[in-house]
Amino acid sequence: MRKFILAANWKMNLTAAEAQDWLNHFTSINPNKNHVEFRLYATSVLLSDLVRTNVLHIGSQNVHPSDSGAYTGEVSIPQLKSIGVQSVLIGHSERRNDFHESANFIKEKVDASCNHSFPFILCCGEDLKTRENGTHLSFIRTQLTSGLSGLENNHVPLLTIAYEPIWAIGTGQTATTAEVTEVHTFIRAVLLEFFGESGTSIPILYGGSVNSSNAASIFACPQVNGGLIGGASLNASNFLELASSL
Ligand code: 13P
Repeated sequence: MRKFILAANWKMNLTAAEAQDWLNHFTSINPNKNHVEFRLYATSVLLSDLVRTNVLHIGSQNVHPSDSGAYTGEVSIPQLKSIGVQSVLIGHSERRNDFHESANFIKEKVDASCNHSFPFILCCGEDLKTRENGTHLSFIRTQLTSGLSGLENNHVPLLTIAYEPIWAIGTGQTATTAEVTEVHTFIRAVLLEFFGESGTSIPILYGGSVNSSNAASIFACPQVNGGLIGGASLNASNFLELASSL
C-alpha cells in the first residue's frame, strides 16, 4: 500500500534552536503511524543539522539546476545529496511569483533532478483570478505539461505532485472538498496521459491552509495522497495532529 505523505514546509521560519525543539517534540510524541511518511522541507541553512538527527525525511525548499558555478546564494543537487538531503520542492508558487521563476527555469530544475535521480515535488496551482474565471484546470494542465514534458516512465518514482491553490496558501481559506476532488482527479488524468498506468503510482498532495479542523475531510478526498503543510507545520504537535485523522 502506498504511504500517505505528510510534508511540512517550514518556509523561511525557525532558527536552529527552534528546529531542534521541534524535532525533540516530534520524536517525543512518536506518532507511530506506519502508513504515513513524514517529511520536512526546511531552509538550506538548517538542512545539515536536520539530516544528522536522522528522525524523518528531510528535503530542500529550493535548488538550482546547475551542478556548480557562479550562482551566489544558490544550492545544487550534488551539494544537497552530499549531506543526505532526500528530495526537493520545485515550482512552489512563492518561488514562481515572489522570485519570478519562469516555467523554463522550473523545467530546468525538473530535468536536473531527473538527471541526478533526485526525488522532487512539483508544485502547481492557480491564483484567485484564474479560479474565478473558470480556467484553473487548463492553467494547471499547462504548468504540468511544461514541467513534465520529456520525462520517461523511469522518472515516475522520483515524482510527487503538490496542488496548492495560491488563494488558499496562508489565507485560512481552504479549497472545498469538491474543489480539491475536481483538481486532484484532473491531475491524475493528466498523469495517466503522460505516463500511462504508472501514473497511478505518483502521489498527489494538497496544500493550502490545511489545519486540524479541515485535514480529515481534505485527506479523505479521492486522489489526495498527502498534504504539504505550511503554517500548521511550524509547531510539531499541530503538525502531528494532522496525522491523527489518518
Ligand atoms: P499554508 O499551510 O500556510 O497555507 O501553506 C501551504 C504551503 O504553501 C505549503 O507549501
